[in-house]
Amino acid sequence: MTRKVYIETVGCQMNVLDSELVIGALRKQGYSLAQKAADAEVILFNTCSVRAHAEEKIYSALGRLKGHMDRHPEKVLGILGCMAQKDQELILKRAPHVDLVCGTGQLERVPELIEAVRSTGRPQMALSLGRKDASRTDVEASFISYDPVRDATMRPTPFQAYLRIQIGCDKFCTYCVVPSTRGPEQSRPPEHIYAEARQLADQGCREITLLGQTVNSYRFDHGDGRNTRLSDLITTLSDISGLDRIRFVTSFPLDMTNDLIDAVRDLPKLVKYFHVPAQSGCDEMLTRMKRIYTVAQYDEMRQRIRERAPEASVSSDFIVGFCGETEESFQKSVEMVERSVFKNSYIFKYSPREGTRAFEKFADDVPEETKRRRNNDLLVAQNRQSLAIHRAFIGKDVEVLVEGPSLTAKRESKRQGQPYAPDAPVQMTGHSMHDLITVFDGMPRLAGSLVRVRIEEATAFTLFGQIVTSESSGRLDESRLAQARHASARPVASQKPGTIVLPMA
Ligand code: SAH
Ligand code: SF4
Ligand code: F3S
Repeated sequence: MTRKVYIETVGCQMNVLDSELVIGALRKQGYSLAQKAADAEVILFNTCSVRAHAEEKIYSALGRLKGHMDRHPEKVLGILGCMAQKDQELILKRAPHVDLVCGTGQLERVPELIEAVRSTGRPQMALSLGRKDASRTDVEASFISYDPVRDATMRPTPFQAYLRIQIGCDKFCTYCVVPSTRGPEQSRPPEHIYAEARQLADQGCREITLLGQTVNSYRFDHGDGRNTRLSDLITTLSDISGLDRIRFVTSFPLDMTNDLIDAVRDLPKLVKYFHVPAQSGCDEMLTRMKRIYTVAQYDEMRQRIRERAPEASVSSDFIVGFCGETEESFQKSVEMVERSVFKNSYIFKYSPREGTRAFEKFADDVPEETKRRRNNDLLVAQNRQSLAIHRAFIGKDVEVLVEGPSLTAKRESKRQGQPYAPDAPVQMTGHSMHDLITVFDGMPRLAGSLVRVRIEEATAFTLFGQIVTSESSGRLDESRLAQARHASARPVASQKPGTIVLPMA
């Protein structure tokens, strides 16, 4: 009988990738995936510390598992990722039934640690060094980029994959835990990335998303005077046959150089999209956040994208209610949203994080109620922009990489308890070349192919249309289109950094 592992993932795309890789390694050891924690011999949580809420969710899930673990002492309960690196022994204090704590820089040890729990009956911890605990070289060495051979069966879709090109972060924004949970910024060698991309393409992958916390700071020093920048790397990856699309997230505003913007304009496989968080539209806030750019510099960067790559869409992140944010400073974020034409913005209420500069230096002085209102107000301003951007596509054709049945179609199939036939007419979804969610009528077997869709309707989050060319053409009938218009096809949860919940099936 094979042993079963259950994993739950919260956090950003990096965590989704890490979970895929950890499960891939365990499958090689003979594990299979369980759908429920109760059915598994090994229960893992891959965690996020970016906001308090993400951690609270994990601690309450651990609380709910206490009775189960007490009744099954032979089972192994593990905490992986950012919260493991941040909270360390505190996890065992708060949840003594946890057996394994493994930080982001030590994930290759998970299979070995599970065996050590079994053989010793004692909790196991694998952590990297703190940023101030040793020399940069030693701290770097303790954060090991975890990039084993890829297992195609472990991805939510076989034709899309994340590919890590950089780990860690050196920016130290004052509110952020990532530089300590993910360690120093380190770029992977281009040859390794190329080999992995090649392997992914050979496995049938058509779209890769290059990941880094400040991905456009990617720079590999070959040691002989040569450097590889992100634009150089992408140019090389563009040669790989079988790959149709390359994306990259997340960019840092000051590192947005013209060579990268021009690459987005010129390289046919490069998705025309930048995720480049502004965080605030007020200079005092940016200084307190230590974002190291001014509003004027951000605006200049946004303008350069508009001029050099006019087709590209841009999205942002904002933090509302940061320490000392007055109504006036908040209004400057609203104004930034109103002039910047972001396709969407991820908006977060400031959450003080122990160990960060802001936690030590500034009071969390904006009341929760005010944070909530500002969050809503900024969202309303953003949604107006998003609607205008999406509506501008009505009447145009977009190229879509088909991902699968839409959320509405999935819910419907679940309700009816019926799986889809490959040729059954069903509402499908995918992303356009500008990273816009597009919903249209198709059939499950189109998943993984590129289709042209003529846009007929739009909401602030979604384009709706009809396929005009693909192996299966044909008009949508009106009743299905009406259904599509009503579908609350909101962006899927995995779109929002820091809030993914992905019980991997
Ligand atoms: N590396 C990426 C984002 C990392 S975290 C970047 O720098 O752009 C994702 C987002 O979470 C951030 O962009 C920020 O908007 C938000 N965030 C980070 N720390 C936060 C905190 N303490 N409270 C609220 N939001 C936070
Ligand atoms: Fe955090 Fe700033 Fe680094 Fe982004 S750039 S991960 S917000 S420290
Ligand atoms: Fe870590 Fe990503 Fe969260 S880097 S803290 S899992 S947003």
